[in-house]
Amino acid sequence: MSAVPNEHILVTGAAGQLGAPLTKALRRDFGAEAVIALDFHDPENPASLGDGPFQRIDTLVRDKLQSLIREKKITTVYHMAALKSNEAVHRPEATWNVNVNGLYNLLDILREQNGAKLIFPSSIAAYGPGGSDPSSLYGVSKRTCEMLCSFFRNQYNIDARSLRLPGVISPEFDIGGGGLTDFSTEIFVEAAGRRRYDCYLESDTEIELIHLTDAIKAMRALAGAPRENVNKSPTYAIHSFTASPGLFAEIIRKRIPEFELAFKIDTKRQDVANALMTDLDDSTARAHWGYQPLISLEDAANELLDQALKR
Ligand SMILES: NC(=O)c1ccc[n+]([C@@H]2O[C@H](COP(=O)([O-])OP(=O)(O)OC[C@H]3O[C@@H](n4cnc5c(N)ncnc54)[C@H](O)[C@@H]3O)[C@@H](O)[C@H]2O)c1
Repeated sequence: MSAVPNEHILVTGAAGQLGAPLTKALRRDFGAEAVIALDFHDPENPASLGDGPFQRIDTLVRDKLQSLIREKKITTVYHMAALKSNEAVHRPEATWNVNVNGLYNLLDILREQNGAKLIFPSSIAAYGPGGSDPSSLYGVSKRTCEMLCSFFRNQYNIDARSLRLPGVISPEFDIGGGGLTDFSTEIFVEAAGRRRYDCYLESDTEIELIHLTDAIKAMRALAGAPRENVNKSPTYAIHSFTASPGLFAEIIRKRIPEFELAFKIDTKRQDVANALMTDLDDSTARAHWGYQPLISLEDAANELLDQALKR
């Protein structure tokens, strides 16, 4: 796709796991100069974002954010800057500030950018047990952000669109962050190396996951939908596949029969995982903006194992 005139995109949190490949994909399609990457620290691997402008700005520093958005006449924001579940446990106040106040700043600034839109990645952590309130601070911050998007949409006609992403998996991700879905990467690296994985969740703990390629495709499809299709919707639920440590172990054993799945249960993460919803109904996302994931659990698992065996 060649550069689209008048499209000026901002990706916040562009040095992160999702922000970097998203920035690269957008630059490939819209042109390097049309996509501004923003993060409060420099990327470890600048090449992972592709070529193009980078701004070191904290989303909590409103003046700088506002000047950038005004000056560059931003038309679309992919708001990826956030602190995730593990940081929410250890740094709750910072998580609340970055997640909620960072989004508030952006939405409020966008009030003066006529017609601009914002894509917000919420999380399955926003679901509580049986559809009730979320059980983690990270989930509460995500649910609050979804409500902020709705409020700004209804009150100020801001085109804010949000979707609840499942845990995202990719062979590119580093292991060992302490997050809820870390097993989905760690298990393959450990299987390829030690032939054993000590899992922090019970074998049959089910968690919704999505491959990075499908997650990026979903955010871009939501951003590209005509406004009238998505105008009145609350946050979109999306489902790709439901995985568990035991299911991954079965796939691994087809290729590494001696692989052993052992357990060192982390009760905090287990409790949060037990409260998550699975098998979500994503028919609205499919109908409104053509959501269609392509990568299955088996394919994703085999790709992660292939990459781990090559390391
Ligand atoms: N990775 C997943 O599995 C997953 C699943 C569901 C939702 N999400 C959401 O998607 C978004 C991106 O996730 P990710 O995995 O890329 O996270 P990440 O932690 O890898 O990246 C987040 C980036 O935001 C930056 N950042 C944090 N605070 C900032 C601030 N105040 N100003 C500017 N930059 C700041 C960090 O430096 C980091 O580079 C987050 O909102 C996350 O909650 C992720």
